[in-house]
Amino acid sequence: MEKNKILLVDDEEDIRDILGIVLTDMGYQIFSAKDGQDALEMFDRELPPLVLTDIKMPGLDGIELLREIKRRAPDTEVIMITGHGDMELAVKSLKYEATDFITKPINDDILEIAIRRANERILMKKQLKMYTENLERLVEEKTRKLLEAERLAAVGQTAAGLSHAIKNITGALAGGVFVLDKGFELGNKQYIRKGWKIVKKNVKKINNVAVELLNFASERTPNYQHCDPNGPAREIYELIKPQAREYGITFNLSVDENLPYIWLDPEGMHRALLNLVTNAMYACMDIRCTLKEKDIHLRTLRPKGWAVEYQVEDTGCGMDEDVKNKLFRNFFSTKGYDGTGLGLMITKKIIAEHGGTIDVRSEKGVGTMFSVRLPQTRRME
Ligand SMILES: Nc1ncnc2c1ncn2[C@@H]1O[C@H](COP(=O)(O)OP(=O)(O)OP(=O)(O)O)[C@@H](O)[C@H]1O
Ligand SMILES: [Mg+2]
Repeated sequence: MEKNKILLVDDEEDIRDILGIVLTDMGYQIFSAKDGQDALEMFDRELPPLVLTDIKMPGLDGIELLREIKRRAPDTEVIMITGHGDMELAVKSLKYEATDFITKPINDDILEIAIRRANERILMKKQLKMYTENLERLVEEKTRKLLEAERLAAVGQTAAGLSHAIKNITGALAGGVFVLDKGFELGNKQYIRKGWKIVKKNVKKINNVAVELLNFASERTPNYQHCDPNGPAREIYELIKPQAREYGITFNLSVDENLPYIWLDPEGMHRALLNLVTNAMYACMDIRCTLKEKDIHLRTLRPKGWAVEYQVEDTGCGMDEDVKNKLFRNFFSTKGYDGTGLGLMITKKIIAEHGGTIDVRSEKGVGTMFSVRLPQTRRME
């Protein structure tokens, strides 16, 4: 086993010799230095866990040496050797975290006790360090496992949702093929046309899902521009107005003209608002609310602490608690063949990239309001 190292510092050669013999006898490996400067060089080279130093030395004295050593390796135990009448210095050295002091002339027993105590402290510190490191490693491992489990759960949920969406589409495709077959079998042109229409619609849809999903997964870097947040709202309004009118839906836009410009990805926000407004239209067209007035309001405003809030409010079918709870899950949809549940999944991602939030208030049979809040951002690229 390697012997424990002790650095012995004293300007008196006799003391170095005597102490050196005593300590070597006790089983230590001794390095001795004649002054502070010498000691520091040796310390850097050997890194002994224990230093025994005279307090009064020419040049770099014991207290200064103590401070230097503590600065380099705070865990080092330093025992000061003091002469009679050096009490003040001894106390001062304790202030700088000396382990102990022994007085000259040195009594072997007292020396042994001091060294044993220092060694006990060294051992304790070592153990404490080992425990802490172990604990840290354990916590790290547990956290890693937990995160991995969470990630796997998310992947599982996404895969399950995706299979569900694909199953819906293939179900619709099979329906179309069935109608087509019947049409051929019976030589019924109307069936053939109908079946073909269903097949075409769903081929387009599955293609859409693939493209959207690729976009979603490929981490497209948003193209941030310094612009008026009303821009995307106005675009969506112009784009959807004719269609809304056709469905008998009143579509209103009201914007706060004094919104500050912010860094946003106009294409992304366009996408997000389009998803929300499309959902609102669908909710208004739901058979459960045919007797009501169908209204959609798209608003921008400036709530406290945010740069902009977009609101999309509809008087559609609303949602019950169950739907509200599952709303933001990937691929969640109540629309059967009509929906894939990608809309809000993508919307949520875009808003998160902007550092924003999305919230929903909805009452079954009354209507729904989505609000999207974006922060005042610094330049983003
Ligand atoms: N304005 C709304 N009113 C009532 N229900 C809504 C509204 N917006 C969303 N939902 C509910 O949330 C579900 C998920 O919406 P999301 O946009 O993610 O998917 P989807 O519209 O079903 O399909 P996709 O958008 O992919 O065509 C919808 O199926 C619907 O049940
Ligand atoms: Mg949707």
